[in-house]
Amino acid sequence: MKIAVRYYTKTGNTKRLAEAVAKAVGVEALPISEPVTDPVDILFLGNSYYAFTIDPEVRRFVAQLNKEKVGKIVNFGSAAMLNSTYKKVKAEAAKAGIPMDEREFHCKGEFKGIHKGKPDAADLAAVAAFAAEIVK
Ligand SMILES: Cc1cc2nc3c(=O)[nH]c(=O)nc-3n(C[C@H](O)[C@H](O)[C@H](O)COP(=O)(O)O)c2cc1C
Repeated sequence: MKIAVRYYTKTGNTKRLAEAVAKAVGVEALPISEPVTDPVDILFLGNSYYAFTIDPEVRRFVAQLNKEKVGKIVNFGSAAMLNSTYKKVKAEAAKAGIPMDEREFHCKGEFKGIHKGKPDAADLAAVAAFAAEIVK
């Protein structure tokens, strides 16, 4: 099974989650500035909420994915207040013709002193276990 991990981060939280995912599935975690060039069965995509929505860079990244090369997207991320970005990412993925796995990972993410230390060690262990379950 071919797997890729991409993430978008502003303050480092998603990068930490992505590195835990990547370690669990045996690939490198790369920022979304790195295009997915080789075909993959699963693309783990880490992203978050900023001012109530996903970043335009994430929208652009999903829009330019090649449906012939990406089997499905698995969403993961964190936010301070809102629940997951799943629906927003799914809407973009649908436009690109790429299915989203119904399973996803979401946890709290530190923002301006709220949820200090999140994602914490338990979250990183949980996202690693989630990723391992997806690829097994
Ligand atoms: C500029 C900015 C705007 C944010 N807006 C929201 C928001 O509208 N809702 C929310 O739940 N969290 C919001 N957050 C919190 C982030 O979603 C949270 O800190 C997340 O863990 C950040 O991930 P990152 O470190 O990978 O960028 C915001 C964070 C930043 C930096």
